Amino acid sequence: MTDPTPLAQRDLVPLLFGHAAFQQLNAFCELGLAELLSERPGLTGAQVAEALRLPPRSADVLLLGATALRLTVKDGDRYRNARLVTEWIDDGLWSNLRDIVEFQARIAYAPAAEYVDSLRNGENLGLRHFAGDTRDLYSRLAGTPGLEELFYRGMNSWSRVSNPVLVRGVDYSGVRRILDVGGGGALNAIELARTHPHLRVTVLDRPSALDVAAENIGHAGLSDRIDTYAADIFEDDYPAGYDCHLFAHQLVIWSPEQNKRLLGKSLRALDPGGRTLVFNAFTDDDGGGPLYTALDGVYFTTLPFESSTIYPWSAYEGWLRELGYASQRRVTLETWTPHGVVEGHKSASAG
Ligand SMILES: C[S@@+](CC[C@H](N)C(=O)[O-])C[C@H]1O[C@@H](n2cnc3c(N)ncnc32)[C@H](O)[C@@H]1O
Repeated sequence: MTDPTPLAQRDLVPLLFGHAAFQQLNAFCELGLAELLSERPGLTGAQVAEALRLPPRSADVLLLGATALRLTVKDGDRYRNARLVTEWIDDGLWSNLRDIVEFQARIAYAPAAEYVDSLRNGENLGLRHFAGDTRDLYSRLAGTPGLEELFYRGMNSWSRVSNPVLVRGVDYSGVRRILDVGGGGALNAIELARTHPHLRVTVLDRPSALDVAAENIGHAGLSDRIDTYAADIFEDDYPAGYDCHLFAHQLVIWSPEQNKRLLGKSLRALDPGGRTLVFNAFTDDDGGGPLYTALDGVYFTTLPFESSTIYPWSAYEGWLRELGYASQRRVTLETWTPHGVVEGHKSASAG
Protein backbone atom coordinates (compact mmCIF):
# COMPACT_ATOMS: atom_id res chain seq x y z
CA MET A 1 0.00 0.00 0.00
CA THR A 2 1.36 3.47 -0.86
CA ASP A 3 1.08 6.43 1.52
CA PRO A 4 -1.41 9.00 0.10
CA THR A 5 0.96 11.93 0.87
CA PRO A 6 4.31 10.29 1.54
CA LEU A 7 6.74 11.75 4.07
CA ALA A 8 9.85 12.96 2.26
CA GLN A 9 13.24 13.66 3.79
CA ARG A 10 12.84 17.40 3.22
CA ASP A 11 9.66 17.27 5.36
CA LEU A 12 11.97 16.67 8.32
CA VAL A 13 13.21 20.28 8.13
CA PRO A 14 10.06 21.99 9.50
CA LEU A 15 9.66 19.14 12.00
CA LEU A 16 13.18 19.47 13.38
CA PHE A 17 13.20 23.25 13.37
CA GLY A 18 9.58 24.14 14.14
CA HIS A 19 10.65 25.96 17.29
CA ALA A 20 13.19 27.96 15.28
CA ALA A 21 10.61 28.87 12.61
CA PHE A 22 8.44 30.32 15.36
CA GLN A 23 11.38 32.26 16.82
CA GLN A 24 12.08 33.76 13.39
CA LEU A 25 8.46 34.90 13.19
CA ASN A 26 8.61 36.19 16.75
CA ALA A 27 11.76 38.22 16.01
CA PHE A 28 10.22 39.53 12.76
CA CYS A 29 7.27 40.82 14.83
CA GLU A 30 9.01 41.96 17.99
CA LEU A 31 11.85 43.79 16.25
CA GLY A 32 9.36 45.59 13.99
CA LEU A 33 10.82 44.45 10.67
CA ALA A 34 7.37 44.29 9.01
CA GLU A 35 6.57 47.87 10.00
CA LEU A 36 10.02 49.07 8.90
CA LEU A 37 9.71 47.47 5.44
CA SER A 38 6.16 48.75 5.17
CA GLU A 39 7.37 52.33 5.66
CA ARG A 40 10.60 51.88 3.71
CA PRO A 41 10.36 48.98 1.22
CA GLY A 42 13.54 48.15 -0.66
CA LEU A 43 16.06 48.57 2.18
CA THR A 44 19.38 46.73 2.02
CA GLY A 45 20.55 44.49 4.85
CA ALA A 46 22.91 47.22 6.09
CA GLN A 47 20.05 49.76 6.13
CA VAL A 48 17.80 47.32 8.04
CA ALA A 49 20.61 46.78 10.58
CA GLU A 50 20.98 50.53 11.07
CA ALA A 51 17.23 51.23 11.30
CA LEU A 52 16.60 48.41 13.78
CA ARG A 53 19.86 49.14 15.67
CA LEU A 54 21.05 45.57 15.19
CA PRO A 55 24.61 44.34 14.68
CA PRO A 56 25.03 43.59 10.93
CA ARG A 57 25.35 39.84 11.58
CA SER A 58 22.02 39.85 13.48
CA ALA A 59 20.26 41.63 10.63
CA ASP A 60 21.69 39.10 8.15
CA VAL A 61 20.41 36.13 10.20
CA LEU A 62 17.01 37.75 10.72
CA LEU A 63 16.61 38.62 7.03
CA LEU A 64 17.71 35.15 5.93
CA GLY A 65 15.10 33.61 8.25
CA ALA A 66 12.35 36.01 7.19
CA THR A 67 13.11 35.49 3.50
CA ALA A 68 13.38 31.69 3.69
CA LEU A 69 10.04 31.65 5.56
CA ARG A 70 8.57 33.93 2.85
CA LEU A 71 7.74 36.76 5.25
CA THR A 72 10.03 38.98 3.18
CA VAL A 73 11.04 38.94 -0.47
CA LYS A 74 14.62 39.70 -1.60
CA ASP A 75 15.08 41.52 -4.93
CA GLY A 76 18.84 41.76 -5.64
CA ASP A 77 20.22 43.04 -2.34
CA ARG A 78 16.97 44.76 -1.27
CA TYR A 79 14.12 43.50 0.91
CA ARG A 80 10.37 44.07 0.96
CA ASN A 81 7.45 42.50 2.84
CA ALA A 82 5.58 39.53 1.41
CA ARG A 83 2.30 40.58 -0.21
CA LEU A 84 0.26 38.93 2.56
CA VAL A 85 2.15 40.88 5.24
CA THR A 86 1.45 44.10 3.31
CA GLU A 87 -2.25 43.21 3.03
CA TRP A 88 -2.53 42.45 6.75
CA ILE A 89 -0.83 45.75 7.60
CA ASP A 90 -3.16 47.63 5.22
CA ASP A 91 -6.25 45.85 6.63
CA GLY A 92 -5.28 46.60 10.24
CA LEU A 93 -4.92 42.88 10.99
CA TRP A 94 -1.15 42.93 11.50
CA SER A 95 -1.46 44.10 15.11
CA ASN A 96 -3.75 41.09 15.73
CA LEU A 97 -1.12 38.75 14.34
CA ARG A 98 1.48 40.42 16.57
CA ASP A 99 -0.77 39.87 19.62
CA ILE A 100 -1.17 36.19 18.67
CA VAL A 101 2.58 35.77 18.21
CA GLU A 102 3.17 37.40 21.62
CA PHE A 103 0.56 35.06 23.15
CA GLN A 104 2.40 32.09 21.66
CA ALA A 105 5.81 33.40 22.76
CA ARG A 106 4.93 34.38 26.33
CA ILE A 107 2.13 31.96 27.22
CA ALA A 108 2.30 28.83 25.04
CA TYR A 109 5.96 28.43 24.06
CA ALA A 110 7.83 27.42 27.24
CA PRO A 111 4.98 25.22 28.58
CA ALA A 112 4.97 23.35 25.24
CA ALA A 113 8.20 21.70 26.42
CA GLU A 114 6.04 19.81 28.94
CA TYR A 115 4.17 18.07 26.11
CA VAL A 116 5.71 14.62 26.51
CA ASP A 117 5.19 14.64 30.28
CA SER A 118 1.64 15.95 29.79
CA LEU A 119 0.90 13.11 27.35
CA ARG A 120 2.38 10.51 29.69
CA ASN A 121 0.44 11.74 32.68
CA GLY A 122 -2.74 12.89 30.94
CA GLU A 123 -2.37 16.24 32.70
CA ASN A 124 -1.76 19.85 31.61
CA LEU A 125 1.71 20.05 33.14
CA GLY A 126 2.60 23.27 31.32
CA LEU A 127 0.75 24.99 34.18
CA ARG A 128 4.02 24.60 36.13
CA HIS A 129 5.14 27.75 34.35
CA PHE A 130 2.45 29.91 36.01
CA ALA A 131 2.08 30.74 39.70
CA GLY A 132 -0.77 29.15 41.63
CA ASP A 133 -2.10 25.74 42.54
CA THR A 134 -5.42 25.61 40.66
CA ARG A 135 -5.77 23.16 37.78
CA ASP A 136 -6.79 25.44 34.94
CA LEU A 137 -4.95 28.27 33.22
CA TYR A 138 -7.77 30.82 33.57
CA SER A 139 -7.78 30.87 37.33
CA ARG A 140 -3.99 31.27 37.32
CA LEU A 141 -3.88 34.31 35.06
CA ALA A 142 -4.28 36.81 37.88
CA GLY A 143 -1.24 35.34 39.72
CA THR A 144 1.30 36.76 37.22
CA PRO A 145 1.40 40.54 36.67
CA GLY A 146 0.40 41.47 33.12
CA LEU A 147 -0.62 37.93 32.17
CA GLU A 148 -4.36 38.56 32.26
CA GLU A 149 -4.02 41.59 29.96
CA LEU A 150 -1.78 39.62 27.56
CA PHE A 151 -4.09 36.60 27.60
CA TYR A 152 -7.23 38.57 26.76
CA ARG A 153 -5.45 40.73 24.18
CA GLY A 154 -4.20 37.53 22.52
CA MET A 155 -7.59 35.82 22.83
CA ASN A 156 -9.33 38.86 21.35
CA SER A 157 -6.95 38.77 18.41
CA TRP A 158 -7.44 35.01 17.91
CA SER A 159 -11.16 35.68 17.87
CA ARG A 160 -10.83 38.60 15.47
CA VAL A 161 -8.95 36.57 12.86
CA SER A 162 -11.12 33.47 13.24
CA ASN A 163 -14.63 34.83 13.87
CA PRO A 164 -15.92 35.81 10.39
CA VAL A 165 -17.76 32.46 10.36
CA LEU A 166 -19.42 33.36 13.67
CA VAL A 167 -20.17 36.98 12.84
CA ARG A 168 -21.18 36.64 9.18
CA GLY A 169 -21.74 32.92 8.62
CA VAL A 170 -24.60 32.54 11.12
CA ASP A 171 -28.08 33.91 10.36
CA TYR A 172 -29.03 36.22 13.25
CA SER A 173 -32.17 37.63 11.67
CA GLY A 174 -34.40 35.72 14.11
CA VAL A 175 -32.18 36.34 17.15
CA ARG A 176 -32.82 39.08 19.72
CA ARG A 177 -30.52 38.59 22.70
CA ILE A 178 -27.26 36.63 23.07
CA LEU A 179 -25.68 35.32 26.27
CA ASP A 180 -21.95 34.97 25.54
CA VAL A 181 -20.96 32.27 28.05
CA GLY A 182 -17.28 32.68 29.01
CA GLY A 183 -17.16 35.69 26.72
CA GLY A 184 -13.76 36.90 28.02
CA GLY A 185 -12.62 40.26 26.69
CA ALA A 186 -15.90 40.71 24.72
CA LEU A 187 -14.33 40.83 21.25
CA ASN A 188 -16.97 38.50 19.79
CA ALA A 189 -19.78 40.36 21.57
CA ILE A 190 -18.50 43.67 20.17
CA GLU A 191 -18.19 42.37 16.60
CA LEU A 192 -21.63 40.77 16.75
CA ALA A 193 -23.23 43.95 18.07
CA ARG A 194 -21.43 46.12 15.49
CA THR A 195 -22.35 43.88 12.55
CA HIS A 196 -25.95 43.21 13.63
CA PRO A 197 -27.38 46.43 15.09
CA HIS A 198 -30.57 44.71 16.32
CA LEU A 199 -28.67 42.39 18.70
CA ARG A 200 -28.15 42.85 22.46
CA VAL A 201 -25.39 40.81 24.09
CA THR A 202 -24.48 39.90 27.67
CA VAL A 203 -20.93 38.73 28.41
CA LEU A 204 -20.88 36.18 31.24
CA ASP A 205 -17.45 35.43 32.77
CA ARG A 206 -15.31 35.56 35.91
CA PRO A 207 -15.21 39.01 37.55
CA SER A 208 -11.57 39.78 36.63
CA ALA A 209 -12.20 38.91 32.95
CA LEU A 210 -15.20 41.23 33.01
CA ASP A 211 -12.98 44.19 33.97
CA VAL A 212 -11.21 43.74 30.64
CA ALA A 213 -14.56 43.20 28.87
CA ALA A 214 -16.13 46.36 30.37
CA GLU A 215 -13.18 48.45 29.26
CA ASN A 216 -13.36 47.08 25.70
CA ILE A 217 -17.14 47.56 25.53
CA GLY A 218 -16.74 51.16 26.74
CA HIS A 219 -14.03 51.86 24.14
CA ALA A 220 -16.28 50.42 21.43
CA GLY A 221 -19.10 52.77 22.54
CA LEU A 222 -21.48 49.82 22.91
CA SER A 223 -22.36 49.99 26.63
CA ASP A 224 -26.01 50.55 25.68
CA ARG A 225 -26.23 47.16 23.89
CA ILE A 226 -23.62 44.97 25.61
CA ASP A 227 -23.58 44.35 29.35
CA THR A 228 -21.70 41.95 31.62
CA TYR A 229 -22.75 39.31 34.13
CA ALA A 230 -20.33 37.84 36.68
CA ALA A 231 -20.93 34.12 37.20
CA ASP A 232 -19.30 30.73 37.20
CA ILE A 233 -20.29 28.89 34.04
CA PHE A 234 -20.62 25.58 35.90
CA GLU A 235 -21.93 26.53 39.31
CA ASP A 236 -24.28 29.45 38.69
CA ASP A 237 -27.63 29.57 36.90
CA TYR A 238 -27.66 31.29 33.52
CA PRO A 239 -29.93 34.34 33.44
CA ALA A 240 -33.30 33.91 31.68
CA GLY A 241 -34.59 35.83 28.69
CA TYR A 242 -32.02 34.89 26.03
CA ASP A 243 -32.88 33.27 22.69
CA CYS A 244 -29.23 32.55 21.84
CA HIS A 245 -26.31 31.26 23.91
CA LEU A 246 -22.77 31.44 22.57
CA PHE A 247 -19.90 29.20 23.70
CA ALA A 248 -16.90 30.73 21.91
CA HIS A 249 -13.55 28.99 22.33
CA GLN A 250 -15.08 27.47 25.44
CA LEU A 251 -15.96 23.85 24.77
CA VAL A 252 -12.39 23.08 23.71
CA ILE A 253 -11.34 23.56 27.33
CA TRP A 254 -13.44 20.94 29.08
CA SER A 255 -14.06 17.19 29.10
CA PRO A 256 -16.99 15.62 27.20
CA GLU A 257 -18.90 15.26 30.51
CA GLN A 258 -18.31 18.92 31.39
CA ASN A 259 -19.32 20.02 27.88
CA LYS A 260 -22.56 18.05 28.13
CA ARG A 261 -23.19 19.68 31.49
CA LEU A 262 -22.72 23.16 29.98
CA LEU A 263 -24.80 22.40 26.88
CA GLY A 264 -27.53 20.87 29.04
CA LYS A 265 -27.63 23.98 31.26
CA SER A 266 -27.84 26.08 28.14
CA LEU A 267 -30.74 24.07 26.71
CA ARG A 268 -32.72 24.44 29.95
CA ALA A 269 -32.09 28.21 30.27
CA LEU A 270 -32.72 29.16 26.61
CA ASP A 271 -36.02 30.66 25.52
CA PRO A 272 -38.22 28.13 23.64
CA GLY A 273 -37.21 28.14 19.97
CA GLY A 274 -33.78 29.51 20.89
CA ARG A 275 -30.38 28.18 19.87
CA THR A 276 -26.96 27.39 21.28
CA LEU A 277 -23.90 28.27 19.20
CA VAL A 278 -20.59 26.45 19.62
CA PHE A 279 -17.79 28.42 17.96
CA ASN A 280 -14.20 27.18 17.90
CA ALA A 281 -11.72 25.20 15.81
CA PHE A 282 -12.66 21.63 14.92
CA THR A 283 -10.90 18.38 14.12
CA ASP A 284 -11.93 16.67 10.89
CA ASP A 285 -14.33 13.80 11.56
CA ASP A 286 -11.92 11.33 9.94
CA GLY A 287 -9.25 12.24 12.52
CA GLY A 288 -6.65 13.05 9.84
CA GLY A 289 -6.24 16.79 10.41
CA PRO A 290 -6.25 19.64 9.74
CA LEU A 291 -2.64 20.62 10.48
CA TYR A 292 -3.71 23.73 12.44
CA THR A 293 -5.76 21.60 14.81
CA ALA A 294 -3.07 18.97 15.15
CA LEU A 295 -0.40 21.52 16.11
CA ASP A 296 -2.69 23.56 18.36
CA GLY A 297 -3.25 20.31 20.23
CA VAL A 298 0.11 20.87 21.98
CA TYR A 299 -1.26 24.03 23.66
CA PHE A 300 -4.51 22.30 24.57
CA THR A 301 -2.61 19.34 26.05
CA THR A 302 -0.11 21.35 28.08
CA LEU A 303 -2.11 24.33 29.32
CA PRO A 304 -5.80 25.20 29.62
CA PHE A 305 -7.19 22.21 31.57
CA GLU A 306 -6.34 18.53 31.88
CA SER A 307 -8.97 17.45 29.35
CA SER A 308 -8.80 20.36 26.88
CA THR A 309 -9.28 19.01 23.35
CA ILE A 310 -10.14 20.31 19.90
CA TYR A 311 -12.99 17.87 19.33
CA PRO A 312 -14.34 16.72 15.95
CA TRP A 313 -17.57 18.22 14.64
CA SER A 314 -19.37 14.96 15.20
CA ALA A 315 -18.61 15.00 18.95
CA TYR A 316 -20.59 18.24 19.45
CA GLU A 317 -23.39 17.01 17.23
CA GLY A 318 -23.59 13.77 19.24
CA TRP A 319 -23.80 15.69 22.55
CA LEU A 320 -26.53 18.01 21.24
CA ARG A 321 -28.56 15.03 20.02
CA GLU A 322 -28.09 13.16 23.28
CA LEU A 323 -29.18 16.19 25.31
CA GLY A 324 -32.43 16.62 23.39
CA TYR A 325 -31.76 19.58 21.12
CA ALA A 326 -34.42 19.45 18.40
CA SER A 327 -32.03 19.96 15.45
CA GLN A 328 -28.56 21.11 14.63
CA ARG A 329 -26.53 22.69 11.84
CA ARG A 330 -22.88 23.10 10.84
CA VAL A 331 -21.75 26.52 9.65
CA THR A 332 -18.44 26.83 7.77
CA LEU A 333 -16.65 29.41 5.62
CA GLU A 334 -13.56 28.90 3.48
CA THR A 335 -11.00 30.31 5.90
CA TRP A 336 -7.34 29.57 6.73
CA THR A 337 -8.22 28.51 10.27
CA PRO A 338 -10.45 25.45 10.87
CA HIS A 339 -13.07 27.46 12.78
CA GLY A 340 -16.75 26.90 12.41
CA VAL A 341 -20.02 26.94 14.29
CA VAL A 342 -22.30 24.12 15.38
CA GLU A 343 -25.82 25.36 16.10
CA GLY A 344 -28.16 23.40 18.38
CA HIS A 345 -31.84 24.38 18.21
CA LYS A 346 -34.28 24.18 21.11
CA SER A 347 -37.78 23.18 20.17
CA ALA A 348 -40.30 26.06 20.15
CA SER A 349 -42.67 23.96 22.24
CA ALA A 350 -40.06 23.05 24.88
CA GLY A 351 -40.40 24.52 28.38
C1 LIG B 1 -10.49 30.63 25.80
S1 LIG B 1 -11.25 31.95 26.64
C2 LIG B 1 -12.48 32.43 25.45
C3 LIG B 1 -12.90 33.86 25.57
C4 LIG B 1 -13.90 34.33 24.50
N1 LIG B 1 -15.10 33.51 24.51
C5 LIG B 1 -13.29 34.33 23.13
O1 LIG B 1 -13.65 33.52 22.29
O2 LIG B 1 -12.43 35.19 22.87
C6 LIG B 1 -12.23 31.12 27.87
C7 LIG B 1 -13.00 32.02 28.79
O3 LIG B 1 -13.75 31.23 29.70
C8 LIG B 1 -13.70 31.84 30.97
N2 LIG B 1 -13.92 30.84 32.01
C9 LIG B 1 -13.19 29.72 32.23
N3 LIG B 1 -13.70 29.04 33.28
C10 LIG B 1 -14.76 29.76 33.74
C11 LIG B 1 -15.69 29.56 34.79
N4 LIG B 1 -15.64 28.49 35.57
N5 LIG B 1 -16.66 30.50 34.96
C12 LIG B 1 -16.71 31.60 34.17
N6 LIG B 1 -15.87 31.82 33.13
C13 LIG B 1 -14.90 30.91 32.92
C14 LIG B 1 -12.31 32.44 31.06
O4 LIG B 1 -12.25 33.46 32.02
C15 LIG B 1 -12.12 32.93 29.62
O5 LIG B 1 -12.57 34.25 29.49
